[in-house]
Amino acid sequence: MAKPRILVTRRWPAAVEARLADRFDAVLNRSDTPLAPEEFRAAMRDYDAILPTVTDKIGAPALELERPQTKILANYGVGYSHIDLEGAGRHGIVVTNTPDVLSECTADLAMTLMLMVARRAGEGERELRAGQWTGWRPTHLVGTKVSGKTLGIIGYGRIGQEMARRAHHGFGMKILAYNRSPVAPDVLAACDATQVASIDELIPECDFISLHCPGGAANRHLIDARRLSMMRPDAFLINTARGEVVDEVALTQALAFDTIGGAALDVFDGEPRINPDLMQSDRLVMLPHLGSATREAREAMGFRVMDNLTDFFEGREPRDRVN
Ligand code: DGY
Repeated sequence: MAKPRILVTRRWPAAVEARLADRFDAVLNRSDTPLAPEEFRAAMRDYDAILPTVTDKIGAPALELERPQTKILANYGVGYSHIDLEGAGRHGIVVTNTPDVLSECTADLAMTLMLMVARRAGEGERELRAGQWTGWRPTHLVGTKVSGKTLGIIGYGRIGQEMARRAHHGFGMKILAYNRSPVAPDVLAACDATQVASIDELIPECDFISLHCPGGAANRHLIDARRLSMMRPDAFLINTARGEVVDEVALTQALAFDTIGGAALDVFDGEPRINPDLMQSDRLVMLPHLGSATREAREAMGFRVMDNLTDFFEGREPRDRVN
């Protein structure tokens, strides 16, 4: 039987690319440039499977075609708000993602951001590299203690739970959780966490708020001006979820008028474009979407995509089907 013809839309870790090339009739994107919607549409006529990632906006324009050859979009990444699931479903296309394998590394990065913003690590490094450090003094770059504080987690899925584990068991933090559906008692008990009924109830109680919910239209500007105004004036917001979850204009205002302690973002609305106003705030830490960026996680994500493809082409339900 002929091998399925697959298109990988970006460079992937070498070990995974090698295995893909061995197992499938694979076309790899050696230039690592994102596909334009028309290139994506053209690919849908040719390939049995396309392996996209967050930089491929698969909305209505990319899916406007009759009877595509593509039967599965096996996404490299856990988030899939860049894919129009309904549109894909109308063509009978299966969509899968890569949960679990990046949860620990993404939570590690959320912890990194929380510590960086609380302890003013970005400011310190910028000062030192600019040759402006004049030496130790009691009042220099004084930050905020993290240990023992209250952390609110919005979205208590796998990554949110990993964040709670680190914060509670490593830093003795009290955990408040908001989740759309009820969280199992044993899952809450693992971090002595309390589930609250609403985001509005959670926000005013927290010293730190970390976002771990999905992106997409339903959660667009979940953290808006009203909710930012409910934060304590010394509280910090951390976003490793998706850029659109935070209203960045409202955030720049909150930072400019000191109504919150600070913020740390790994994801941006319309990334890689960054709202220039965000650049103005010293109390904002920014990283270029590094949540899952470890060798271990990125390889595991690739192999998880392969597991889904293998399930699909061997006639089984793919383990991580999302539509
Ligand atoms: C994910 O897996 O969703 C990461 O944000 C990278 O796409």
